[in-house]
Amino acid sequence: MSVRKAILPDAGQIDRLIRAHTTDGTLLPRTMTEICADIRDFVVAEIDGKIVGCGALHLYGMHLAEIRSINVLDEYRGRKLGVYIVNALMEEAKHQHVTCVCLFTRVPEFFGSLGFREADRDRLPDKVYKDCMKCPRNQACDEIAMYRGELPRLSSLPKGYRPSDIVRIAPVST
Ligand SMILES: CC(C)(COP(=O)(O)OP(=O)(O)OC[C@H]1O[C@@H](n2cnc3c(N)ncnc32)[C@H](O)[C@@H]1OP(=O)(O)O)[C@@H](O)C(=O)NCCC(=O)NCCS
Repeated sequence: MSVRKAILPDAGQIDRLIRAHTTDGTLLPRTMTEICADIRDFVVAEIDGKIVGCGALHLYGMHLAEIRSINVLDEYRGRKLGVYIVNALMEEAKHQHVTCVCLFTRVPEFFGSLGFREADRDRLPDKVYKDCMKCPRNQACDEIAMYRGELPRLSSLPKGYRPSDIVRIAPVST
């Protein structure tokens, strides 16, 4: 088994892996165009030449990066591949001198066991601005924001922007 940086020929398999988890909202959809454009964000887990998992690190700046699109094929779960993928992405964050890595998830136990802690979404406005505005669940999000490192004091958003202007972040009852 190896975890390596993705290259463009992996894009099709990455697309299939992500697609399997977008219908139920576990992962945000990514088009092939986005996957290709962001291919350098991705790492893939490979066993005997088969890609069985992937994950990506999106860089906002030295103040923040985000782990996203992480998943492992059902039949390969429970073999620590998820841990290896997170570790590879954290290594990349370190290499880039990033001081905080965040993610939004429905599996906080998995990330909690890797040292991530829960955060208030207002502390991660770059992420909220990038994804939540266009997410169909933005008014009823059931994901937990988590981070490792030092919560950012900076944001790359325009001056005067407040996340609460854009998206209500508390879950609403239906
Ligand atoms: C989350 C996911 C990537 C974990 O991958 P994995 O290779 O099965 O996980 P690992 O084998 O590395 O598990 C490491 C530890 O986390 C625990 N864990 C794994 N998945 C878990 C889950 N869904 N809920 C709670 N704990 C979990 C394992 O039990 C293991 O604990 P242990 O060390 O005490 O045995 C995988 O379950 C997956 O692809 N899920 C669907 C997509 C998804 O939810 N991605 C996260 C989006 S933010």
